[in-house]
Amino acid sequence: MSILQILEFPDPRLRKIAEPVTVFDGKLEVLIEDMLETMHEAQGIGLAATQVNVHKRLLVIDVSENGDSPRVYINPTFEILDDELSEYDEGCLSVPGFYETVSRPRAVKISAQDAKGEVFEQVAEGILATCIQHEIDHLDGKLFVDYISTLKRQRIRSKLEKEHKKTA
Ligand code: NI
Repeated sequence: MSILQILEFPDPRLRKIAEPVTVFDGKLEVLIEDMLETMHEAQGIGLAATQVNVHKRLLVIDVSENGDSPRVYINPTFEILDDELSEYDEGCLSVPGFYETVSRPRAVKISAQDAKGEVFEQVAEGILATCIQHEIDHLDGKLFVDYISTLKRQRIRSKLEKEHKKTA
């Protein structure tokens, strides 16, 4: 297993639209293992393939307290179950150190495939519903900072650009 490099905002590769996964093989399983390890190591609760510069529609999530309930979603889509929104202070491994309040549908029905290609459905509420929507956004080239004001986004952008210059 290996730890993958996580792209950080405003890297333009985070804006790519991911392609559907069509091959369910050992290579995909290795990628899933690496993504889970990378997410846990970074103490994140979700990671989309886009964030590790793989432009395929797959993501991993673990919203459990102990980080022992990993879930994999391949080619995920969701349907909004009611009009109610919930607010969370969202963060992102690609926007390290910043948290902003984002409103999203409170409950969704997810449809996705597992590592073997089997289709499954899941009703998600609360943090899991928010997390899955945040991660699916990544597959469509979107980030949580797209939901906040331009001024705030620019401020985050310039702070991260400064950080990147320091470490380059
Ligand atoms: Ni994220």
